[in-house]
Amino acid sequence: MRKFGCLLFAFMLMGCEVKKFEVPLLIYDMQDAYMFDFEQKIQQAKDDAFILTTVDGQNSQIIQNEDIDKWINAKVPLLIINPVDRLSVYSIIEKAKKSGTKIIFFNREPLAQDMALYDSVYYVGADAAESARIQAEIIMELFGNDPQLNKFDKNSDGIIQAVILKGEQGHQDAEARTKVVVETLIQAGYIVEVLDISIANFDRQTGKTAMDGLIATHGQNIEVVISNNDAMALGAIESLMEKGYFIDTDKNGKIDRDSEVWIPVVGIDGLDFAMEQIDAGYLYGTVFNDSQNMAEAIVELANLLINGEDVSNLSFTITNGKYIWISYKKITNQ
Ligand code: GAL
Repeated sequence: MRKFGCLLFAFMLMGCEVKKFEVPLLIYDMQDAYMFDFEQKIQQAKDDAFILTTVDGQNSQIIQNEDIDKWINAKVPLLIINPVDRLSVYSIIEKAKKSGTKIIFFNREPLAQDMALYDSVYYVGADAAESARIQAEIIMELFGNDPQLNKFDKNSDGIIQAVILKGEQGHQDAEARTKVVVETLIQAGYIVEVLDISIANFDRQTGKTAMDGLIATHGQNIEVVISNNDAMALGAIESLMEKGYFIDTDKNGKIDRDSEVWIPVVGIDGLDFAMEQIDAGYLYGTVFNDSQNMAEAIVELANLLINGEDVSNLSFTITNGKYIWISYKKITNQ
């Protein structure tokens, strides 16, 4: 009876409410356009099962590590991490393992040997090589799906003269996208001359500055601008507009590709601002980096992990017990 009385008292104190878990969502840098949008999608996908607190790493692994220590000490059951430096998550995994904290990494993929250190560590992401293959398909379509090329081979030399805007060095997406887009074109029989690769850290303003430099060096020789993401592609478009590579002659805010001056620029991500630029004729095409499905996968996995349920109950396919891969999709207005 005494025991029951205590239990009743405890329930009354708690207002009979079930305590919700708080889970931190650690984003590498909220200044990143794609991650800013991704964070919103995760928050929207979340149900009432747990409280999700967004923490901005401000592109500093030191700041993010301090935050992670704080949350581990607060004994949260799970950390959802978009790491600043995907190559140095070893110590994060070791700490989490010691304290029994589960981890979902996303978007910036840890090394396989680090993922293998702990059973309760997962990764939700997309296969960067796939985005590059789709981007190559868009470029092939531009050149008439014909390795002999069409009128977009401006100097009619049968070679695609390209410049590449590369994202952050060492990022799995930047490395794979840069390499595989060219490889895919070559495998399909196209001859490609990469005039230059400029690193612009996935950032719009840096992309604009990089494009200023590429135009200064290669100018009219450029036949296509291949960007590892949309933000840099739009920065490049701003630069190209300023220098007369896009001319909206009738000033209707759109580029009519049949009658106005334009140059092909292709991106990756499929963010809303990029879709607007596709409609307006400035961006030739992009590849949809499906953060909506990734957000849903993260939230579903988080719910299972918090409740100690088996991850095989997930509605997404889980590969090697740890990875959830979400496909990319092609977007053009052709
Ligand atoms: C990529 C995305 C980039 C950038 C990066 C951040 O998947 O395409 O725009 O957001 O992630 O890690």
